[in-house]
Amino acid sequence: MKDFIILLVCYLIGNISFSYVLTKIKLKKDIREFGSGNAGTTNVLRVLGRKYAILVLVGDVLKGIIAIILGKLLASSEMYIILCGLLVIIGHNWPALMGFRGGKGIATSIGVFVTYDPIVAFICIGIGVLIIVISKYVSLGSVIGMSIFPIVVVMLSRSFEAFIFACCVSAISIYKHRANISRLIKGTENKLKF
Ligand code: G3P
Repeated sequence: MKDFIILLVCYLIGNISFSYVLTKIKLKKDIREFGSGNAGTTNVLRVLGRKYAILVLVGDVLKGIIAIILGKLLASSEMYIILCGLLVIIGHNWPALMGFRGGKGIATSIGVFVTYDPIVAFICIGIGVLIIVISKYVSLGSVIGMSIFPIVVVMLSRSFEAFIFACCVSAISIYKHRANISRLIKGTENKLKF
């Protein structure tokens, strides 16, 4: 029962959408009506600018950090810690409180993995950021950074549980970016502009 409540709390933490709340406060509108329609940092950068995007990024990363800390402190096994991480990402991507239309989970996944396995996370984030800086496509860096999680986990000889965790996080992020991937292939994806 305790583990179930922790997982529910993690899912609900994921439901807290900083992009939605800040856009509602600033414009009295739903962030999902603008730009890519995504409730996340990149879209807030387009719509509200850099200051708000940084707030959203920090808030969404914190959600992931809090979920894994909760899991490490309270959950009964490694499997439940991993489920805490997955549930906060699922809560962010498919929030019941927002009609199951949330974000793409990159910032929250970063928070999750930085807390779960910092070395693996920083390698993937470093490569992802480098791709964003070179290509100016946030989605390309996000997808590649997330896709290499399982590879880095294997290269650093982490546990089988960590590998499954990384595969799930990676698969969720590729699935959520399917429209971006299709735009990247067609050459119509939005480039990052300041
Ligand atoms: O994390 C989301 C980012 O990779 C793409 O965002 O708004 O361009 O779909 P967006």
